[in-house]
Amino acid sequence: MCGIVGYVGPKKATPILIEGLKRLEYRGYDSAGVALLNGGIEITKKPGKIHELEQALARHPSTATCGIAHTRWATHGAPNEPNAHPHTSNDGEIALVHNGIIDNADALRQQLKKEGYQFTSETDTEVVVHLIDFLWNEGQPLETAVAAALRKVDGAYGIAVISSRDPGKIVLARNGSPLLIGVGQKGEMLAGSDAAAVIAHTREVVYLDDGDYAVIDADGYRTFRLEGTEVARARHEVTWDLAAIEKGGFEHFMLKEIYDQPNSLRDVMRGRLLEEEGDARLGGIRDHQTELAAVKRIIISACGTSWHASLVGEYMLEEYARIPTSVEYASEFRYRNPVIEEVTLAVAISQSGETADTLAAMHEATRNGAKTMGIVNAVGSTIARQTDFGIYLHAGPEIGVASTKAFTSQLVALTLFTLFMGRRRHLSALQGREIVSALQELPYLVEEVLKVNDEVRDVAKAYMDCRNFLYLGRGYQFPVALEGALKLKEVSYIHAEGYPAAEMKHGPIALIDDDMPVVVLAPRDAVYKKVVSNIEEVKARHGRIIAVVSDDAPELQDKVDYMIKVPHTIPCLLPVLTTVPLQLLAYHMAVLRGADVDQPRNLAKSVTVE
Ligand code: G6P
Repeated sequence: MCGIVGYVGPKKATPILIEGLKRLEYRGYDSAGVALLNGGIEITKKPGKIHELEQALARHPSTATCGIAHTRWATHGAPNEPNAHPHTSNDGEIALVHNGIIDNADALRQQLKKEGYQFTSETDTEVVVHLIDFLWNEGQPLETAVAAALRKVDGAYGIAVISSRDPGKIVLARNGSPLLIGVGQKGEMLAGSDAAAVIAHTREVVYLDDGDYAVIDADGYRTFRLEGTEVARARHEVTWDLAAIEKGGFEHFMLKEIYDQPNSLRDVMRGRLLEEEGDARLGGIRDHQTELAAVKRIIISACGTSWHASLVGEYMLEEYARIPTSVEYASEFRYRNPVIEEVTLAVAISQSGETADTLAAMHEATRNGAKTMGIVNAVGSTIARQTDFGIYLHAGPEIGVASTKAFTSQLVALTLFTLFMGRRRHLSALQGREIVSALQELPYLVEEVLKVNDEVRDVAKAYMDCRNFLYLGRGYQFPVALEGALKLKEVSYIHAEGYPAAEMKHGPIALIDDDMPVVVLAPRDAVYKKVVSNIEEVKARHGRIIAVVSDDAPELQDKVDYMIKVPHTIPCLLPVLTTVPLQLLAYHMAVLRGADVDQPRNLAKSVTVE
């Protein structure tokens, strides 16, 4: 959601900025813009896709070697040209791009209007650039004015600012919206809201902390606290490479990431399985055994797909570790008055590690004295850094907006955590070994599942014109039903509902007729027979059934329209296998319907505003 890129150095800035924006495209946006410092400031902005901006820039090539760029995902005001970033001061001498939301924008706007400032957009961002101008005393450097303005701003921001009054530098600041410095070749510095924006030029990055601001110029970078004191921020090396954020021969990132799952599952388990002991070795939580031993209750907060993974985690943690576990929508949790005791462990699950609501839920838990743990994919992200300890997914960058490989890695990370907690409580070595051995086999089983791709494409062809879908599952398969329905909605724009299979009788059954495809998750687990009864109920009402089964299910042959087979494994890991055909189904439906698979309309990869 919204992206920032900055460049200052000896090279022409435009191609570097555009390339950076393209690498951030996956985060979701609806307009884009660039500000270049070339004597004065040159602004180009366009609603729509980046190539529109690129074409506009090509009409007036610039030799500027310093600039900032932005992709905007509209929050305040429509996605049109005036609202697109960068925003400028009335004299055009300061330009600013911003991710986040300024909470006191209305009050500041009123004050600035009284001072004679003209507003040309509906955005909250514009107040910041006028405020910088208002507080800029002659002779001061840009960063002093930026820091003075930010001390008056409430809200979340990641910003980059340039000015023709103090050229050759970019001022960056962060509070709640990610921002990093890319340390380039000599005389060259970059900035990005995500490492993907700078990785083509450097692997060395410096993450800003909340309340930091920084100056980058040809001489390097300096980081400060908003109060003005200089601070040192460590350099980190980005461990993944460019190939991880390129399509590698696949038509879409989503498909590439679905097919990457055997590898991403190996990566989340690498070095973490203790075969003999039937246990998990988790470096990120190993040193917190005392706190974890005291845990009597777990609350998991998450959003979207990560919330679905959390539900599977709840079932696993209760079954194997016998720890009462509840799952919360992070956005609800943060505004309730939840009961949190010292013996509560608050877990945040997040692919991006930047979801604003999930982060706020962790802050709420911390305020109430709970220990917090992150299960996060993006290394160095805010949730990863602000929780007490955690487990990384190591799934590599996920570019498709609809989460696929991160979900299955979350399921495996939760299994590892369950093993860890279970083995320190009631889980026997024998049971632990059974889980470890099933985990070891899992990547191979996913390779098998991927072979159903052609069959699933046929199913998609058969149902591509349907307007509604129902997904049903029970037990461990209920969250899979929710996730399958979400995937379909996200990428194909078909309305879909996920339901616990037995709940169908309490409402959705009224919708079933011969126009309603029903995807039923029916692997052979403890509730298989019950699910078969649910299939009968759908069949009796002429619903069209697509069943996902494990092994052979001859008894279902004449009851269902399509049967997709996945291999069998232990029930708690079956969700990893049954999810894959549903990802493929959503993908093929979207492609057949001509939808933008990797960047579905209105969605953002990383939701950094509440
Ligand atoms: C957005 C994305 C979803 C994701 C959700 C939570 O809505 O489009 O794919 O599941 O945010 O994101 P997180 O990064 O916290 O897992």
